[in-house]
Amino acid sequence: MTRIASFAGSGFDVDALHCAMLDAFSDYIVPLQPDADTFRAALSSRGFDPEASFVAIDGEEVIGFWNVATRNTERYLIGSGTRIGHRGRGVAAGLGMAAIRAAETAGTERFWLEVIEGNAAAEGLYRKLGFEMTRKLDCYRLDHPSPERSSCKPSDFATVAHAIQSHGTWEPTWQNATETISGVDLTCFLHEKGGAIIGAGGLVHQIAASEASALEDLLAVAATVGSLTLVNVDSGDSTLCSLLKELGAHRFIVQSEMCLSLPNVS
Ligand SMILES: CC(C)(COP(=O)(O)OP(=O)(O)OC[C@H]1O[C@@H](n2cnc3c(N)ncnc32)[C@H](O)[C@@H]1OP(=O)(O)O)[C@@H](O)C(=O)NCCC(=O)NCCS
Repeated sequence: MTRIASFAGSGFDVDALHCAMLDAFSDYIVPLQPDADTFRAALSSRGFDPEASFVAIDGEEVIGFWNVATRNTERYLIGSGTRIGHRGRGVAAGLGMAAIRAAETAGTERFWLEVIEGNAAAEGLYRKLGFEMTRKLDCYRLDHPSPERSSCKPSDFATVAHAIQSHGTWEPTWQNATETISGVDLTCFLHEKGGAIIGAGGLVHQIAASEASALEDLLAVAATVGSLTLVNVDSGDSTLCSLLKELGAHRFIVQSEMCLSLPNVS
């Protein structure tokens, strides 16, 4: 018999979650088989909340999971999945309902998630649970941008985050939000014309500038390891998206951001 429990009270550890995740994502739309350390780091950097997360247990095994993060009155689905041999029996629906109920009880106002375009099973599940699409997000890989870099200079996180806030036209998603990345070792550059970039090891967390040429310089100065990856660029940012296309960036994933607004029950 399958039972659903909060991860905090389940008696299982993160290794059991990792094992279930590897099975559930073994037929995923894109290859996703992280090692144990990468899996732990991804949970921790996004703010994994054991009380807010739920597992489905069958005998001695975790067969499904909803890994959830909490920040103030918002929750975020870091990842969800059901082991291949246990699909189509309402496991994910049960987990989702438990996670939403717990969020409601805790006074959560909004529950966020992202789903890759083409993942019809997951999107169907989220819609059935009441989530609605808020925007489309693009993920790009850009090789060796090389324009003028001298107009950019290194700066501290707070200054750069402030510059991005004043030039940005959209909010970064959970994994790139200022609160999520503020404790990470990051490389930050300011542009003399106004604008900035925050990255680490070729991954761009945030970028915004007054004009396209400044965006181009910032991309070049951040490309310390050659190529850059931009995850979850708001597809409505036509200046950045057009520039990336002009520079030959490869759009490797399109995602939908979805949100469930919860009634205030407190
Ligand atoms: C998506 C996933 C979690 C669904 O798990 P599940 O336990 O089989 O789902 P359930 O049996 O609870 O189904 C719940 C609802 O999801 C949708 N759904 C599930 N499988 C589906 C499929 N193959 N095609 C279309 N819709 C599907 C349906 O709306 C379904 O409700 P219904 O049975 O009343 O039609 C599972 O397929 C999975 O682990 N996929 C790989 C990992 C993944 O994609 N994770 C999500 C990342 S965003």
